[in-house]
Amino acid sequence: MMKISIISTSKVAGLLLLLHTAAVAQTDEEIYQKADALLKKMTLQEKVNMIHGSSSFTSGGVPRLGIPEWVMSDGPHGVRVEHGRTYKDSIGVNDAGTYLPTGVCLAATWNPKLGYAFGSVLGSEAAYRGKDVILGPGINIIRSPLNGRNFEYQSEDPYLISQMAVGYIKGVQDQGVAACIKHYAANNIETNRNNINVELSERALREIYLPGFKAAVQQGNVYTLMGSYNKVRGEWATHNNYLINQILKKEWKFKGAVISDWGAVHNTQQALWNGTDVEMGTDLSLGEKPDYRKYFMGDTVLALVKNGKAPEYLIDDKVRRILYVMLKTHVIDKQRSKGAYNTKAHQQTARQIAEEGIVLLKNQGKILPLSSSIKSIAVIGLNANRPQAFGGGSSQVKALYEITALEGLKKLAAKGTKITYAQGYNIKRGAEADENLIKQAANAAAKADVAVIVGGSTHGYDYSKWSDNAYDAEDTDKPDMHMPFGQEELIKAVLKANPKTVVVLLGGGPIEMAQWISSAPAVLQAWYPGMEGGNAIAGILYGKVNPSGRLPMTFPKHLVDAPDHKLGQFPADKDSNSNNVYYFDDLYVGYRYYDTYKIEPQFAFGHGLSYTQFTYGDLKVQKGVNNTTVTFTIANTGKTAGAETAQLYVHQQKSLLPRPEKELKAFEKVFLKPGEKKQIKLMLSADAFQYFNDVTNSWITEPGQFDVMIGSSSKDIKLKGVVNL
Ligand code: BGC
Repeated sequence: MMKISIISTSKVAGLLLLLHTAAVAQTDEEIYQKADALLKKMTLQEKVNMIHGSSSFTSGGVPRLGIPEWVMSDGPHGVRVEHGRTYKDSIGVNDAGTYLPTGVCLAATWNPKLGYAFGSVLGSEAAYRGKDVILGPGINIIRSPLNGRNFEYQSEDPYLISQMAVGYIKGVQDQGVAACIKHYAANNIETNRNNINVELSERALREIYLPGFKAAVQQGNVYTLMGSYNKVRGEWATHNNYLINQILKKEWKFKGAVISDWGAVHNTQQALWNGTDVEMGTDLSLGEKPDYRKYFMGDTVLALVKNGKAPEYLIDDKVRRILYVMLKTHVIDKQRSKGAYNTKAHQQTARQIAEEGIVLLKNQGKILPLSSSIKSIAVIGLNANRPQAFGGGSSQVKALYEITALEGLKKLAAKGTKITYAQGYNIKRGAEADENLIKQAANAAAKADVAVIVGGSTHGYDYSKWSDNAYDAEDTDKPDMHMPFGQEELIKAVLKANPKTVVVLLGGGPIEMAQWISSAPAVLQAWYPGMEGGNAIAGILYGKVNPSGRLPMTFPKHLVDAPDHKLGQFPADKDSNSNNVYYFDDLYVGYRYYDTYKIEPQFAFGHGLSYTQFTYGDLKVQKGVNNTTVTFTIANTGKTAGAETAQLYVHQQKSLLPRPEKELKAFEKVFLKPGEKKQIKLMLSADAFQYFNDVTNSWITEPGQFDVMIGSSSKDIKLKGVVNL
């Protein structure tokens, strides 16, 4: 007979309290006690089940002990479309969610608070969708204008990345979901990504390619990290002893779990010994229902341990790390917040990030903002009317909705404004300028008060086919920096038909503008601005929103100016049969190159215009015992409220080893009403002046004189002081 126990109300209250306290933060000591207790109860087979995939986006659980499968999802700018246990899109599920602006647009806000807000939306939607790990943020250094995944990443500068990524991670993890920083490390080329071997100096690794990951671990307390596809110095990054065991786990004291990129494990012993904790990726060649025990970290591990060829403590360490994250994020006791989906607040955050991330590159003759008395606008270009959310590869999102620029303008234009649309170009493989479409566009432009061309890059042709990924998409790089599909001819024809033409560019980074930039009065860089992007673009064009985005990467004039092409290699050396890629550009990535080598960019790192003006003054640089304090003022001297991003660059006048001309070490975005003036105070700790000496293999501060420069971009330095250390 079933026993029914009657629980008193006080017992219920006690139980609720217990449930509540379970959700309260637990100390690491408590977590490890629980993890060890679970580990003790597990068989070797059960442990091995936990260290490899069990479906396309889950790794194994131990049902007997109440440990569920671990559920992961891309990332990084929305919770990915639902795939069930395979890669086939699930039908009839509630997976149309919030599509945030992509990583590069987030970084262009230069607003770390928005990093947190971004992460919170993502974490909350991931929790709602039952995901335990969100596979983002992607923070690989934007080394080349051509990398197909630049749109998912953030910047060419490690300091800016660190500031934005830490907020993002905390935002996700405060919702009870683990973030997964990716792709560790030196994964800056998509061409042949599964085979290339990156050769780079220790200094470049430490000063450029690793600081974002280090900040994610030490300041963001990120719970998981994804190892990348490429090799670094001859060893696969996903099981690279130096990167994972020595640096990540020993030096930085990373407590979480290392997850392989999908299919990035190549060898069982290396994965066991060199720090990979979970092997993920469905080998589709294994058929519809792959046998996951065949994975490198499956049955072979079992055999090795049983035969005494690998010690069990290696497996225990991996399982302990997985359990640590699972317990921290309440995967096992399920005491996690339920999250929320498609709320107005989430959509509002997407909009604010777009509004603050879109960059006004040029505004000659103050053609912008558009006057409300404008009677007609010719909107031109396929990107004005093409949703982007579902493209790009693994970062695809099924957006609940996506406001295009055309829709945004129609919504915001005053009643009676005539808005016409002309496609202007075709997005097709190998498409060249289409004379007819160009003629239609030029005619429309000639008849309108203003023309707005929305063009630039795209994620590919048919988003449902991986093989159609192109330009800003995973597993592919851009062939060059030219505008595809005959857009240069289009822009020139439209500018000729109507000089009052605004060019709005979508894309993950720079595109060559040399052919038309001198005759285009206004240019807006809109990245991939998310589901509210069209509203943000229209708001900026009409001056409802004062643009405040700043470039998180340099826009060179031509590809040959870019350091990866000038000094280094991108992709691998075509003349050699090896898969080696040499980063001879070394520390000279982005503005570190353009400023040091005096190469004039099209638009400098940190550049971005506003509808108001700012004046800088009163710089004081004071050396303290531990920190250097830098104060100065910024005043809004124009008639519109707006935000300025003050950037602090440091330069050592004489150093033993060569150093770049400028290095970003602090910044602050400040919002000012017309006529308002604020004092900004930035603190520089010792590491702001250090560099990595690869002779002594350590960070060093060399005494001497340092320039402290405050600029509104890396080229536009407003104030200059010195400090002696
Ligand atoms: C990508 C990762 C992604 C993973 C899972 C890989 O191809 O490189 O960024 O998280 O797939 O979709």
